[in-house]
Amino acid sequence: MVPEPADQPGAPNPSASRTPRHVAFIMDGNGRWATNRGLPRLLGHQAGLDNLKHVLGHLHQRGVQFVTVYAFSTENWDRPTEEVEGLMELLRDGLGELTQELHGNNVRVHHVGRSNRLTPELHEGIERAVALTRENTGITINVAFDYGGREEILQACRGIIEDQVPIEAVDERLFSKYLYTAGTPDPDLIIRTGGELRLSNFLLWQSAYSEYYSTHVLWPDLDAIELDKALASYQNRHRRFGKVNTADSLD
Ligand code: FPP
Repeated sequence: MVPEPADQPGAPNPSASRTPRHVAFIMDGNGRWATNRGLPRLLGHQAGLDNLKHVLGHLHQRGVQFVTVYAFSTENWDRPTEEVEGLMELLRDGLGELTQELHGNNVRVHHVGRSNRLTPELHEGIERAVALTRENTGITINVAFDYGGREEILQACRGIIEDQVPIEAVDERLFSKYLYTAGTPDPDLIIRTGGELRLSNFLLWQSAYSEYYSTHVLWPDLDAIELDKALASYQNRHRRFGKVNTADSLD
């Protein structure tokens, strides 16, 4: 089998023993963080948004190139209306300032997920952030907003059918190009805060060989020390991508 070039989506990361190229987060625990302090849940999401900037800064320092954050899932619409509306407002109101800050730090912003259920203002705000930061060369952040792994796979299938792709041309590489994450390497490391041990419909296709790390720390409390623990854990894994282990195998 011809090895895939390292910069292709789905290809093994050759530097897996050192720094993950792509880290993805299930940012869980905002609600508990707020409840523990006697605050409304929305203030937990605000604290989570603030912490995202620190997390990005630290991972950039550590040499990570891509970060994906699960900010709102296709299932999160079923939360109480007040919380859903609050999350939408939080993003809409914070987006302008956040975008400027990220742009100032040379961060490239992508959206992964559905756009057609977002309010026009939010949709436009996200489009503006993506357009403004398109040429940036620093860390890339994929914001998974109205994202679900199963929905993503279905929309990829629909796209392939719509484009009338010949059946023999449908392989993993082509399929990846129809996903929201097209052009982004698969995540090397998925970190879930808040202590649960579930993937919750996150990056189902892309996580086939991702390393997984769960911490009880709640998302707004995830700091440099906890991040370095996760990175150290990753550095001690032996990634084999389904192949036979050898004594000196690092991938
Ligand atoms: C899960 O915590 C978190 C969310 C559903 C939303 C995450 C959103 C942010 C961190 C802020 C927005 C960020 C961006 C980039 C738009 P939970 O509410 O399930 O917490 P719990 O398990 O303690 O109840």
